[in-house]
Amino acid sequence: STRQYHENVVQHYEKPSNVGSFDKNDPNVGTGLVGAPACGDVMKLQIKVDDDGNITDACFKTFGCGSAIASSSVATDWVKGKSIDEAVTIKNKDIAKHLSLPPVKLHCSMLAEDAIKAAVKDIKLKRSNAE
Ligand code: FES
Repeated sequence: STRQYHENVVQHYEKPSNVGSFDKNDPNVGTGLVGAPACGDVMKLQIKVDDDGNITDACFKTFGCGSAIASSSVATDWVKGKSIDEAVTIKNKDIAKHLSLPPVKLHCSMLAEDAIKAAVKDIKLKRSNAE
């Protein structure tokens, strides 16, 4: 129902999922740290990746507005269970739509898209250096 949908969205604001952090030196952890030039807010998003390139867990810490925190919550929920190649196809527009963000808050969801991409880049770099 619409009400249920709305409550799910509200949860991302009031009780965001996956707040926390992993050891960035763990060889199976990718870390994305990105900032929004528009406002100075910062998001750290981390993924745990198995040997097949699938994301088994994700977490974040966001020093920013409520929309950025909610976007991180959605992003970390969505990447879990995806491969790293699927994860980078998550678009900020989909996050913004899911949260009904107004246009002025689009850059907040962009932070989440950028953070996913940065975390995937980090794990790929780690693994290519380990070869
Ligand atoms: Fe800066 Fe939302 S206002 S990320």
